Amino acid sequence: GTTLGASAAERGRYFGAAVAANKLGDSTYVTILNREFNSVTPENEMKIDATEPQQGVFTFANADRIVNHARSRGMSVRGHTLAWHSQQPGWMQNMSGSALRQAMLNHVTQVAAHYRGQVVAWDVVNEAFADGGSGARRDSNLQRTGNDWIEAAFRAARAADPGAKLCYNDYNTDDWTHAKTQAVYAMVRDFKQRGVPIDCVGFQSHFNSGSPYPGNYRTTLSSFAALGVDVQITELDIAGASPTTYRNVVNDCLAVSRCTGITVWGIRDSDSWRASDTPLLFDNGGNRKPAYDAVLAALNNG
Ligand code: G3I
Repeated sequence: GTTLGASAAERGRYFGAAVAANKLGDSTYVTILNREFNSVTPENEMKIDATEPQQGVFTFANADRIVNHARSRGMSVRGHTLAWHSQQPGWMQNMSGSALRQAMLNHVTQVAAHYRGQVVAWDVVNEAFADGGSGARRDSNLQRTGNDWIEAAFRAARAADPGAKLCYNDYNTDDWTHAKTQAVYAMVRDFKQRGVPIDCVGFQSHFNSGSPYPGNYRTTLSSFAALGVDVQITELDIAGASPTTYRNVVNDCLAVSRCTGITVWGIRDSDSWRASDTPLLFDNGGNRKPAYDAVLAALNNG
């Protein structure tokens, strides 16, 4: 293939990008998006603060623009994200207990129902585990509603959109030896054993010097896949955009049959949440970087 999306498709996978609705009028951006990618994740537009700014008042216009742009061009959509401790609207931030639990479940239900049949995979729950060596859940208002809040969210999402793949998504879960990775693994194993509806695990894969690409990344992906879930690389960016590291990440996904696709977290470096790290595949002018060439070659070497 001559593009990321076409080359990934030849390997039975997708290649996606995080997309911002307010850039869909930028012709350089849209030209690259439409040429290279066959999956899209709204970068912010499906988050709780964006979709339910006031309790019970849902706003889907920006997310709908991205979904319509993608689907009208044959791109699939990853939904991000239904339940998260961050990017909560003010009304939710101060809620607790059963009122918060009910509000969270209603949010999951309403948003998943709005996009029923249009989103191939949802990040149902994002970043629910603590950093560091504890292996504990992250403390949050959602966690304080009870340890079963995650499975409750997954069950609500399944009921609202039975056709969507339901993912748990997190960062710093790339190194197989880390406590956080093992804690997420134990949760997914437990969910599969008890029949909690989970289909996939997303590895954000924001790599930098503080959380580098680990040599056991492929082991992590294959170990989760062996639990009977798909794995996806959901927010890939690499500080400095080392072509070698990008190539290794792609090869690790290609080596795991249940690694179904890769999403980079933005298109040009200037679109990145950490633009100064120049972590993406296209420079500020929209030109392909050496990391792009490495990714394309890896996708085609097989
Ligand atoms: O839209 C407002 C704008 O009106 C305002 O003028 C401006 C002033 O700061 O803020 C704008 O909103 C910002 C938004 O990005 C859009 O640019 C928010 O402040 C800012 O917090 C938000 O950051 C996003 C961040 O998630 C929020 O948590 C990043 O774009 C987005 O890339 C980042 O993505 C996360 C994933 O969802 C989860 N994994 C980690 C990843 C990186 O942090």
